[in-house]
Amino acid sequence: MSKEIELKAPESRDGNAVHQLIARCKPLDENSVYCNLLQCDHFANTSVVGKRDEAVVGFVSGYRIPSRMNTLFVWQVAVDSGERGTGLASKMLGHLLERDSMNGVSMLETTITKDNDASWALFNRLAKRMNAPLEKTHHYEADAHFNGAHDTEWLVRIGPFNS
Ligand SMILES: CC(C)(COP(=O)(O)OP(=O)(O)OC[C@H]1O[C@@H](n2cnc3c(N)ncnc32)[C@H](O)[C@@H]1OP(=O)(O)O)[C@@H](O)C(=O)NCCC(=O)NCCS
Repeated sequence: MSKEIELKAPESRDGNAVHQLIARCKPLDENSVYCNLLQCDHFANTSVVGKRDEAVVGFVSGYRIPSRMNTLFVWQVAVDSGERGTGLASKMLGHLLERDSMNGVSMLETTITKDNDASWALFNRLAKRMNAPLEKTHHYEADAHFNGAHDTEWLVRIGPFNS
């Protein structure tokens, strides 16, 4: 097994393996293979795949919000269970924020459910590392947006940074 995990922009051919990784990473919502394929293709510049020996073990999907291009929205972060706790998620976010395609990005947003301790830890850690403030507000609400079928998603805003 290779020691190194290679981080890079995904390609469309990674879509199917990304789909399988997401399915292994509860509690992430699963999307269609086609959706993951589009993330890997159209949103490659704002997404990251982590590969060990060609196997997809980590993934970050994101995009710049069309009406606020200074804001990177991080859609999902997934790390295979055997690779967790070694900083891979933090490294993927760092790798993404250092890309040339992030020129002009000064804010990061994501949404997190209240009970996802690992995700809160990941983004609190990122805010500290970027020396940027983090604010959180109710965003997509359990009843109003999900008809009670999904926990409330909190909006997390980190920034401004790079200013
Ligand atoms: C969340 C997730 C991506 C973190 O991946 P990871 O590579 O293990 O994270 P890192 O090693 O980079 O750790 C980042 C920070 O989170 C902390 N952390 C990681 N897992 C944790 C857990 N289960 N509980 C509490 N804190 C945790 C780490 O200690 C670290 O903080 P520190 O640097 O202050 O010590 C991974 O657990 C995962 O894929 N979970 C399932 C999917 C999910 O919930 N994704 C996030 C929602 S988009």
